[in-house]
Amino acid sequence: MTDSPRARFLAKLDASLRAGALVKLTLSAYCGAEPGLRNVYGRVVALRDGPHVSLVWRYATRDVTKNVPPSEAGPLLGKLLGAEFARAHLFTTTGDWQLQCDAQGEGRLKASRPVFAVAPEPEHDVKKRAPLAVEHAPFLHALGVTAATGEARPGMADKLRQIQRFVEILGHLVDDSPLRDRRELRVLDMGAGKGYLTFATAAFFRDRGVDAEVIGVEARPDLVELTNRVARESGFARLRFERGAIGDFAVEGAVDLLIALHACDTATDDALHQGIRAGASLILAAPCCHKEIRAQLVPPPVLREVLRHGILAEREAEIVTDGIRALLLEIHGYKAGVFEFIAPEHSGKNLMIAAQRRAQPPDPAPLRERLRELLAFYGIREQHLARLLTV
Ligand SMILES: C[S@@+](CC[C@H](N)C(=O)[O-])C[C@H]1O[C@@H](n2cnc3c(N)ncnc32)[C@H](O)[C@@H]1O
Repeated sequence: MTDSPRARFLAKLDASLRAGALVKLTLSAYCGAEPGLRNVYGRVVALRDGPHVSLVWRYATRDVTKNVPPSEAGPLLGKLLGAEFARAHLFTTTGDWQLQCDAQGEGRLKASRPVFAVAPEPEHDVKKRAPLAVEHAPFLHALGVTAATGEARPGMADKLRQIQRFVEILGHLVDDSPLRDRRELRVLDMGAGKGYLTFATAAFFRDRGVDAEVIGVEARPDLVELTNRVARESGFARLRFERGAIGDFAVEGAVDLLIALHACDTATDDALHQGIRAGASLILAAPCCHKEIRAQLVPPPVLREVLRHGILAEREAEIVTDGIRALLLEIHGYKAGVFEFIAPEHSGKNLMIAAQRRAQPPDPAPLRERLRELLAFYGIREQHLARLLTV
């Protein structure tokens, strides 16, 4: 039993931890049931009570970190190998090992020469790093989010949390997309408002060394003037704001990433339409109010007792609207997902639609049929994005 490939892999891990030779560890090919879980990554960190193995569970839009003493890392990972992850890769300074598990959790172990000659200095992991380093983001102060000390100003803690969470999600989605390796790209932020997330996006790419042109589109001239001034004063040469209506904005040239966060009612549809039409690789939208469908909803007989309550009809209209939007994105060649991006106690408008353009989209005919059925079920005659996409 101790000679099994999995046991030998765990023994190599244990030996590398004892010798201070572990560079990093990756578990992949997730085969469990947890939605959005992709990988587990391991590295050594220096904590106050000695070195620990920091294990990061990487989900589609978040990370969950657990630091365990070196003696506990092997038993914990042993439970995951085979049962939840079919592949594992161990990088050490003395050799690299790749484990491929079979259905019984054993499998094959392949050794190769070490890619890394030296182990990294264990990082001090006392404090979790924020996705956006506030000390390098003076625009947060200029826009009134933080005080001079870097703390959130009174009443702005939720906004700062939302900005940080957005940057975290953006990082995951970009890393999961073909934009990951781009050194230059173009971003449109529709309904930019005071520009909190437009600036955060520009800072995110700047901090990664990506030359990103970022354009915020906003209807209110006072906000456009303010944000352009702050962009200039904060040294963002390729960030600018333009006054205009989302639907009328003349998109020139390629768009790689389109974001629309809390654009009112059907302005979200205008933004999604612009993104689809421009063939953006990634589209991120956090819808705001949903008035269009609420007014049309005819409760199907089976839901009559549920939807006679105003608040439930309102929630149903929101869910159906965003479901239709995601379905339309799928019909138009995107892989779309809907998730909660911030806890409801921090913001009621906490849903995000994230869509990545597929390299080879499937035949949309069956999806079109499902859309027709859905609209008929709720008696919906018109939906703004559906109307725009059929023109
Ligand atoms: C609730 S704010 C959100 C601002 C920003 N995206 C954020 O999440 O912090 C919505 C902004 O979108 C702008 N807006 C709404 N509809 C628009 C449209 N059709 N064209 C341009 N701007 C629009 C509003 O003026 C407002 O500033």
